[in-house]
Amino acid sequence: MQDDLERILFHERTILHRLDEMAATISRDYRKRDLTVIAVLNGSLIFMADLLRRIPLPLKLDSLSVASYHGKTETSGEVVFKQVALPDVVDRHVLLLDDILDSGHTLAAIRDKLETANPRTIRVCVLLSKKKTRARRVKADYVGFEIEDEFVVGYGLDFMERYRNLPCIGVLRKDLVAQTAP
Ligand code: IMP
Ligand code: MG
Repeated sequence: MQDDLERILFHERTILHRLDEMAATISRDYRKRDLTVIAVLNGSLIFMADLLRRIPLPLKLDSLSVASYHGKTETSGEVVFKQVALPDVVDRHVLLLDDILDSGHTLAAIRDKLETANPRTIRVCVLLSKKKTRARRVKADYVGFEIEDEFVVGYGLDFMERYRNLPCIGVLRKDLVAQTAP
């Protein structure tokens, strides 16, 4: 799998070190609050597992599943919720976890929908944030790493459902993306 990468951006130890710092900040910020973490599946699975085990708070965990990519590297802009019921977040402090903030469509749609369920606050935490002009404005309150506008895989991030189990994060070779493009 590593041979499919053009280059590695973050090794596992670099990611885990950054998670130590993020978890310390989040733990401090939510010390006296009823925290509900909502993870956006599948991309945030590995990030979620490693981050939450570093947060020693009595938090609740829920998840949401959406589809926005339809197997390509460009977002379609359409965000489809895969479940009908929203997590119960009334009066809770919600922390939305996702793998990456790209166009902003996904997190903006989820944030808007969760707001209808009357949480006390909503904040956003992403492992990666692409430096680019977004189609929708989303404020990321906690960001692991800022990256250039390139297609990356690994540590939960996929290309057509592959590479999620790579322990590092890297840029996928352009020829592989081109081969499978529609
Ligand atoms: P957005 O709606 O464009 O912000 O995209 C968010 C979702 O698209 C993320 O949760 C990822 O699943 C996926 N995505 C965006 N950029 C990448 C990437 O570089 N690699 C893998 N998945 C990505
Ligand atoms: Mg994806």
